[in-house]
Amino acid sequence: MTHSHDQRPVSPENRESAPDYICLLEDISVSFADRDVLVHCDLTISGRERLAVLGDNGSGKSTLMRVIAGTLETDGGQRHMNAPGGVAYAAQNPRFAAGMSIQQVIDSFHARFRELETLMRIISGKLQAAEGAAADRLMAQLQQVTDIYEAADGYTLAQRLDSALQQLGLGEMNREADVSRLSGGQRSRLALACVLCSGAQLLLLDEPTNDLDEAALAWLEKSVDKHRGALVLITHDRMFLKRFARSILEVHDGQLSRYGNGYDGYLHAKEQERAAAVEAYDLWLAEMAHSKKLVEKNAARVAAIPRKMEMAGFGHGNFRSRERSHGSTSKIRQAKSRIEELESNPAPKPATELEFSLPAGAALHESTETLIHVQKIRREQPPKLSTGSFEVKLGERWLVTGPNGAGKSSLLKMLSGELDYEGGIIQRASDLRCAWLRQDLGEVTGDSLIEAFALATDQYVDDAAEVLAKLGLFAPEDFLRHPLALSVGQRRRLELAIAVSSQAHVLFLDEPTNHISPALVEQLEDALEDFPGTVVTVSHDRRWQQKLKVHPDLQRLHVRDGSVQVVR
Ligand SMILES: Nc1ncnc2c1ncn2[C@@H]1O[C@H](COP(=O)(O)OP(=O)(O)O)[C@@H](O)[C@H]1O
Ligand SMILES: [Mg+2]
Repeated sequence: MTHSHDQRPVSPENRESAPDYICLLEDISVSFADRDVLVHCDLTISGRERLAVLGDNGSGKSTLMRVIAGTLETDGGQRHMNAPGGVAYAAQNPRFAAGMSIQQVIDSFHARFRELETLMRIISGKLQAAEGAAADRLMAQLQQVTDIYEAADGYTLAQRLDSALQQLGLGEMNREADVSRLSGGQRSRLALACVLCSGAQLLLLDEPTNDLDEAALAWLEKSVDKHRGALVLITHDRMFLKRFARSILEVHDGQLSRYGNGYDGYLHAKEQERAAAVEAYDLWLAEMAHSKKLVEKNAARVAAIPRKMEMAGFGHGNFRSRERSHGSTSKIRQAKSRIEELESNPAPKPATELEFSLPAGAALHESTETLIHVQKIRREQPPKLSTGSFEVKLGERWLVTGPNGAGKSSLLKMLSGELDYEGGIIQRASDLRCAWLRQDLGEVTGDSLIEAFALATDQYVDDAAEVLAKLGLFAPEDFLRHPLALSVGQRRRLELAIAVSSQAHVLFLDEPTNHISPALVEQLEDALEDFPGTVVTVSHDRRWQQKLKVHPDLQRLHVRDGSVQVVR
């Protein structure tokens, strides 16, 4: 089943006469071994669709994309395509047949152009020998094929592809080389370049922004902007979502939910869902309380009857009291059955909002404004790092930027005291407490999710379970899962739960938006806005940076080749 939060009507009845879709999935199911990934899903993709697919890691986004692309057999349901202008699919981790050269891979993406070119050559050849009406007919055919070729920008294909590969950092590669020589990231970028140059009517992009640098990202945005056909995009990049998504499709528990009005509409709908959940829960609580009160009140009445009987002392009093007792017991019965009904259909308790807090009590001396004082650090062994001098104060926001591998994560570890150095000094306020969201998820101790959470936050398991349940980051049935069975997204959420529950002066957030849903990122940002402590963060997420930049106490560090500069 697919839940629609979109106003757009789906009209299967006139499908036969004039299809208003380019892809239609009906009652699709996909299972892998022991997992039902998609369960009886429907989806209509129209010719002007700009659809962004969201969902946790492993929820089935890529699986759905493969179904749309037609590269995955489903276990049930039907797929109808109506895209004469072609479909081009850039997979998350593209795999190509062994022994293929890079040029052959490119050709496989652009086979349609080659077919059209061959056709044009054949018709032109025939045209030379033809005369009269036959020549007119061939001329008209040639025109038709040329039109299609031009519409897909066939004449500029070679140039466009060269420029795309250049911008994606693949300009220098030898196209006769075996494609298996490329790294995973390079293969993804190769597919992306080919797809965006394909001129296909339907573009399918699975996490295209992963490992793109700024120039590549700019190229991608420009290319997507130029595309006139339909687009289905899997991404958690909120700038992308805001710019390109007209609808959002959420994949969760094997089901698809569609939301209209772009990313903002999606967030708004999510907020409304949350408000409705809070209301439903409050109503449930109120009804429960009311029914319990009714039971008590009527029980008291029943209990009071014998006394009244003695006092009344009249024959008809006997009758009256019996009647009253009858009314009260039936009310009790009614209320009790209502309580049973409510108990068997509990409204789920809505999650509390995320909130970070400083350690309780004045753990730091009142006058300690400076939390970390860095003075000319030198670290000689790898990862090499050197800094000038600066002070990190309470309440500040520090944004650490720099290219991949420059040493940003190492700098954070040094500030928190986890990484040694040879020269200089880092003074930390005594009793300074730090919390982390790490880029590389470390080992999780404990035999279950809840035990890991309890250990990390220094609580008894029962108390920890209550705290974790309130956060709403996990379904209670996940609490007993073994940490090794958690997905990357779930481990990220575990870290987030730990950070929120351990009071700290400084939060080190290393690529915090990786592996968590955009809606949760928004919640995290809201929580940080109210956090009185200090936040030190590394993030490539443009929206995250943007939101941070409006903070009055923003400081910036730029790391390049192990050298740390304070940006003024
Ligand atoms: N070819 C496959 N064989 C077995 N399991 C698979 C295969 N492809 C995906 N899965 C499983 O299906 C689930 C959904 O995967 P996927 O669609 O890649 O999720 P997403 O793209 O949302 O991260 C995961 O549990 C994944 O392990
Ligand atoms: Mg995927």
